[in-house]
Amino acid sequence: MRKNIVAGNWKMNKTLQEGVTLAKDLNEALKGKTLNCDVIIGTPFIHLASVAGVVDKNKIGVAAQNCADKVSGAYTGEVSAAMVASTGATYVILGHSERRAYYHETPEILKEKVRLALDNGLTPIFCVGEVLEERESGNHFEVVKGQIRASLFDLSSEDFAKIVLAYEPVWAIGTGKTATADQAQEMHAFIRKTLVEKYGKEIADNTSILYGGSANASNAKELFSNPDVDGGLIGGASLGVEKFLPIIEAF
Ligand code: G3P
Repeated sequence: MRKNIVAGNWKMNKTLQEGVTLAKDLNEALKGKTLNCDVIIGTPFIHLASVAGVVDKNKIGVAAQNCADKVSGAYTGEVSAAMVASTGATYVILGHSERRAYYHETPEILKEKVRLALDNGLTPIFCVGEVLEERESGNHFEVVKGQIRASLFDLSSEDFAKIVLAYEPVWAIGTGKTATADQAQEMHAFIRKTLVEKYGKEIADNTSILYGGSANASNAKELFSNPDVDGGLIGGASLGVEKFLPIIEAF
């Protein structure tokens, strides 16, 4: 179901105490407000249960930033989709460029993670995006299409309809070099067209496609005003209520 969504991605930040404090502060800041978007906070594993325990579940969803590509067992250090779901988290960010790059997550690994997330009732927020060289060479559309096709196009229509997509141009992540609203809209529209070709217009029109990459209070309104931009996946600007709230209120 297509919704406006503002999702924070804390990445590897916040001690247990800092995380609970931020979640409580955001929860307090949203009290009594009528929101025009769903709000999600994506936290490290250590925070999931405590954050889920302090937020108003009718206003704030909780996302993990990863899950294992195995069901359970002798995989030291891993956290399964079932474990994530047991914390009260209902989303999981998958395919983030930092996991693809630093932890060598292949399309096949991500396909398995998506499958396990869905099997455990989690909504995947699936990230795609090109690196600067791919954009400069004009290959960015094919790269993004390939990422979606390789990890998601084996899904049934019913399962794909549960996916949230996030377009995150790698060259915009953490750089302060945000994609222009036109660049974001162009890629989001291309992604939606790609979905029409595979799953048909109804599912494509009902898929939320978020933008991520140096989105902040000053550019969120323009980004979100585009017809195919359904919100944002926010990194640095989600680490404080004073930075995150204006993005939520940009809708
Ligand atoms: O997942 C969102 C993240 O990659 C964007 O980071 O700091 O550029 O908003 P940032």
